[in-house]
Amino acid sequence: MRVAAIGDLHVQETDEAPYRELFTEIAQHADVLLLCGDLTNFGKEKEAEILADDIKSCSIPVLGVLGNHDFECGCPEKVCEILSASGMTILDEQAHEIDGVGFAGVKGFMGGYGRGELAPFGEPIAKAFVDEVMKEARKLENALRTLRTERSVAVLHYSPVPDTLEGEPAEIFQYLGAQRLAEPIDRFEHVKAVVHGHAHHGTYEGRTPLGKPVYNVAQFVLKPLFGRPYALLEV
Ligand SMILES: [Fe+2]
Ligand SMILES: [Fe+2]
Repeated sequence: MRVAAIGDLHVQETDEAPYRELFTEIAQHADVLLLCGDLTNFGKEKEAEILADDIKSCSIPVLGVLGNHDFECGCPEKVCEILSASGMTILDEQAHEIDGVGFAGVKGFMGGYGRGELAPFGEPIAKAFVDEVMKEARKLENALRTLRTERSVAVLHYSPVPDTLEGEPAEIFQYLGAQRLAEPIDRFEHVKAVVHGHAHHGTYEGRTPLGKPVYNVAQFVLKPLFGRPYALLEV
């Protein structure tokens, strides 16, 4: 299966059919399109409606997750509803299967890596912060566990590894993802690739601790690398 992936679309309310042509091009090269969060710039209904119109014109299945920007206006449920109505599958609690390939995804959250990982200790708000990423990792694990496919792709907005953040300032790595998100990925043999966005200045390829390939598909990373804002993977 040929899988196209793009993150960080950041659709704005002044945009006019911003992804229509690109989605048409992608449909000629791929069987499935994955959208890795920050679909809208501020999580406004109008922005979601503009993207929804472009998704309607896409002839291959579109699946994906929300990003932090899609939460900014406080109505991520509405954004989901508008995008779902356009035919997009929002991966969150539930995994999805297409032609024998599984797809499971969550937005993820921040939390850091290695020595930079925040521990759930002390004040309730510090524990709640860590709990948020643990909740996202649990959701991903539960979704992956339901899959009976031999191959699957994990879809995230935040990064599960620090490798794909190279290029970003080291001081902000802990806000760009969390190693807790890599644990469920490494637990399941069927996960063959991971895609994420969020790190606009990061690096395309990385690996989980057990060696699974991770791709940062933020469009700003891909454009200078491939001359096109999306990645193409064989799964
Ligand atoms: Fe973004
Ligand atoms: Fe983001």
